[in-house]
Amino acid sequence: MTITKYPRAAFIDLAPETDSFEQAVLTGLRASPKAISAKFFYDERGSRLFEDICNQPEYYPTRTELRLLQDHACELASMIGDNSTLIEFGAGALEKVRILLDALDRPAGYIALDISGDHLKAAADSLAQDYPHMPITAICADYTRSLTLPKDLIDKSRGRTVGFFPGSTIGNFSSQEAHQFLETIRPLVGADGLLVIGVDLKKDPAILNAAYNDKAGVTAAFNLNLIHRINAELDGQFDLDSFAHKAFYNEDLGQVEMHLESLDNQIVTVAGHSFTFSKGETIHTEISCKYAPQEFQALARSAGWRPLTVFTDKMKLFSLHVLSAD
Ligand code: AVJ
Repeated sequence: MTITKYPRAAFIDLAPETDSFEQAVLTGLRASPKAISAKFFYDERGSRLFEDICNQPEYYPTRTELRLLQDHACELASMIGDNSTLIEFGAGALEKVRILLDALDRPAGYIALDISGDHLKAAADSLAQDYPHMPITAICADYTRSLTLPKDLIDKSRGRTVGFFPGSTIGNFSSQEAHQFLETIRPLVGADGLLVIGVDLKKDPAILNAAYNDKAGVTAAFNLNLIHRINAELDGQFDLDSFAHKAFYNEDLGQVEMHLESLDNQIVTVAGHSFTFSKGETIHTEISCKYAPQEFQALARSAGWRPLTVFTDKMKLFSLHVLSAD
């Protein structure tokens, strides 16, 4: 572990080893059906492509959630109280937390976790310039594997500790993994802690299918970036033109699925290992689960949280839940 003090944001590097990417890819390509976890999308280029997705007209989640945060910022701030410490998971560009920070009364600190270290570092330093009096800690970590934070990072003698998990990133987890994650972060915020979490709603499949198949092809580039990354980091020999982006809403399972579909029978080598693809075979790269409000509240309850409130927009596109740890 290395700790680097920046002019303002502290940076803690708990980055997962390259080994773990290689292991995950080799195991995932040996499996049947082939599958690789969505968390590996987020190298530097993948993080940038994701931000581009958020600006696509079809991709409603980001702007809808930003609106929900803006519309309910005062209410959220009064539930959270003063001197609170925020911990954000999968922090990305740190745009959303600014809305909360601006509404909060003297926030005591902000901790951001993300798997994409350089990207996070840059975002945290820019946040630090705008909030010079608040301690900011950026931690590069795979929070799906380990959530042991450095001791004394959170001063529990101050106000509440509040988890912030926007963007419906929880949708990338299976319901079992989501349950496990919710259970793991509860002790992190303590008995008087809260969780503010964005969750994408079940809705008309046409809206979902459009959101994951934007006309500009940014989601396709984001999906294909995974094999681009495998080529670059793991000496992969994928021909990017022989694979196609495929995304659809699986209504039975209540999830959007993304796949990379092989357009031919082919053999691809990665790190010296060969993998056979038949035409039409896919690598499953992402699930994005959608939850009705009551469904998500039931999941939260099963993991020990008490639902306090849920905000949704008029068109019922997206939800923002507030949960209490007690
Ligand atoms: C960041 C996981 C919430 O599932 O909507 C966007 C990622 N994938 N378009 C999502 C994503 C394809 C996004 N999350």
